[in-house]
Amino acid sequence: MTSPHAPVLLAEVIEALAPKAGDVVIDATFGAGGYTRAILERGADVVALDRDPTVQPFADAVARDFPDRFQLIRTPFSGLAEAFEESGKAKLDGAVFDIGVSSMQLDQAERGFSFMRDGPLDMRMSANSDHGGETAADIVNTWDHGPLAHIFKLYGDERQSGRVATAILRRRVEQPFTRTLDLAEVVEKALGGRRGAAIHPATRVFQALRIAVNDELGELERGLEAAEATLAPGGRLVVVTFHSLEDRMVKAFLTERTGNAPGGSRHAPVAVETRKPSFDLLFKGAREAGEAELAANPRARSAKIRAAVRTDAPAWGAMKGRGA
Ligand SMILES: C[S@@+](CC[C@H](N)C(=O)[O-])C[C@H]1O[C@@H](n2cnc3c(N)ncnc32)[C@H](O)[C@@H]1O
Repeated sequence: MTSPHAPVLLAEVIEALAPKAGDVVIDATFGAGGYTRAILERGADVVALDRDPTVQPFADAVARDFPDRFQLIRTPFSGLAEAFEESGKAKLDGAVFDIGVSSMQLDQAERGFSFMRDGPLDMRMSANSDHGGETAADIVNTWDHGPLAHIFKLYGDERQSGRVATAILRRRVEQPFTRTLDLAEVVEKALGGRRGAAIHPATRVFQALRIAVNDELGELERGLEAAEATLAPGGRLVVVTFHSLEDRMVKAFLTERTGNAPGGSRHAPVAVETRKPSFDLLFKGAREAGEAELAANPRARSAKIRAAVRTDAPAWGAMKGRGA
């Protein structure tokens, strides 16, 4: 089965994970299995996670090619520790996260992620199957002006967030939103149309709704903590992000856990950190895609990769605060 989703920063991910025969790696965001296949080809076993049941045909294809070394567990990656236990494996040597939405999810109109294709205003990555959680329609039809404007600004960087929220509230009293194109049109009108816009005017609002529907930042925070709790000493953590808020969270997590968090000032002293670092950085800062990948895959434009090696110190547990 050929993959409709070009894996981003694949060479960098494999270099950072350095998988070898006998290792066990968790691919926390299986998608179409691009990373998983590359890890399996280097001889390691893979326990793959995905909250989206529609990835199953890709998993079946991988299982046919690597019958003994691959398994998929359907779970949000905040459940990584429990999933690893369920896998029956003894020791975790690597965990990779490729955060965000896949090309398949964007392309399936009925999932409701796209402002270009008409579909139900859903956006749950777990698909319409689990009947749980708020949909994008629930959010735009019930949330107050303040919280709506807040997520448009925070998760979407929408400068005119208040104006969009006002237009949504005005429209929904006449008729609640049910379809993607209907919402995209209302947002476009509120923002004064498409003239001169480099991207579709609804891009930011759709991104914000997707992040809120799937609690993507909460998932990332709990996923990182679960990886810290589960990786064996020497195990590698590799994270690819596409959004500055997510990258900031990964950076804050690694800054804290490598013992590099800034101390307090004279005016606001903080307790001296006595815990030993639970990670060492594999390289400083974040790496980005090179020219060749950028030319071949526009999705790589905003991608950033960070990586670290687990030490033998105890896990720190919950993060102090988000890196926003
Ligand atoms: C960008 S794609 C991954 C592509 C994959 N690396 C590949 O090479 O094909 C992201 C995938 O992660 C899944 N995903 C996103 N957030 C998740 C979460 N919190 N828990 C589990 N899966 C998640 C999505 O359903 C999607 O299939």
